[in-house]
Amino acid sequence: MLFSITKTKIMLVFLLLTLSIYLLGGCSLHSTHVYLTWQGDPHTTMIINVQSLGKDNPEEVLYGDKSCANNPISYPHRIKGTYKTIPEVIPQRNVHTFELTNLTPGGLYFFTIKTSKGKYSQEYKFRTIPNDGSVLHFIVGGDVGILPSAPRLLHYAGKLNPQFVVIGGDLAYANGAPKNDWMWDIWFNNWEKHMKTSEGCLIPIIAGIGNHEVNKKGPSCPPEERSPFYLGYFAQGGKTFFSRIFEPYLSLIILDSSHIIPVSEQTDWLKSTFESSKNYPYIIPVYHVPLYPSHRSFEGGVSVEERNLWLPLFDEYKVNVCFENHDHTFKRTKPLRNGQIVENGTVYLGDGCFGVNPRTIENVSLGYFEKMESKRHFWYVEIDANELKAQAIDEDGNLFDEVSISPRKIEK
Ligand SMILES: [Fe+2]
Repeated sequence: MLFSITKTKIMLVFLLLTLSIYLLGGCSLHSTHVYLTWQGDPHTTMIINVQSLGKDNPEEVLYGDKSCANNPISYPHRIKGTYKTIPEVIPQRNVHTFELTNLTPGGLYFFTIKTSKGKYSQEYKFRTIPNDGSVLHFIVGGDVGILPSAPRLLHYAGKLNPQFVVIGGDLAYANGAPKNDWMWDIWFNNWEKHMKTSEGCLIPIIAGIGNHEVNKKGPSCPPEERSPFYLGYFAQGGKTFFSRIFEPYLSLIILDSSHIIPVSEQTDWLKSTFESSKNYPYIIPVYHVPLYPSHRSFEGGVSVEERNLWLPLFDEYKVNVCFENHDHTFKRTKPLRNGQIVENGTVYLGDGCFGVNPRTIENVSLGYFEKMESKRHFWYVEIDANELKAQAIDEDGNLFDEVSISPRKIEK
């Protein structure tokens, strides 16, 4: 009996200790996050996003092309930011945005954040994207989440020293719900821990939107209320579809699979964006819902609509490769035009399994797969004038698939 009471007490103390550690951990989860995005030219601009709880707000970013870690007031440049508050999140969450402009392509920059109470953060650094024709190299994946497999994959992604990471939707799985802000904190903690190059640079993120970024408020509500975290946390020009040019090779196009803006409302913009991209050797659309699904039905409503409205444009402008997500598998299609296998057709890579649990492969009888597997992974992409090389990396850091894709033939 005595033993049993003592044992119960020990268990209670253990539980209280565990709870305290959890709560303390919870508090630290609410600390500031610092991460990079773009809304403009990735060669000459950078956006520094800083989240705060409103007690000692980030007020200025001081920066320059040399380290001033020992004497922050000696940075040659300083910039004030703007901020917004994420609706309904308690405690209040502010996101501060500092856009650095007129930077040198391929330049190394150092910065520190000064708070309203005059404190300076640690020194951070980043590199802008070079435009000198050197190899462009980046990561693409989607459907990340906060399971232990997500940081495992991020760890191997960071080790490849990408210049940036593209995520094709479904980041933290918070479903646009203010009460799920803790999920984003875990997500950003994973991101900040692993997304640094060997040189110590922060790695910018280009975030596409997925269904798990949106709540059920419906189209009558403004986008900022329907997707408060995606639109609030990632300063990317306030849109869910946009393009970025990486000179001299790539037009990267981020699309919204009807999560906020219907597929049909992006078609005219997509056509004009393709038209202005036609002299680039590589055009890559990234979006959430696949045209060629590997788990869900081929007749799924959004997939059908995208095939009806976007696919003719993908074919007309001879898109090299698309990155698809949402189905939580690995897939590589055969080269396709209008669903038919053709030489130098578009290759569709996916299907969003950058941390979530993999699903079964379906639709094999439709014949469009070259390779498929129920497996977590991300894609590492290298581009130069001669080829685009995409490599699939699994959660043990092993390369398990590779494809080489030719540049588009540019008509003069
Ligand atoms: Fe999804």
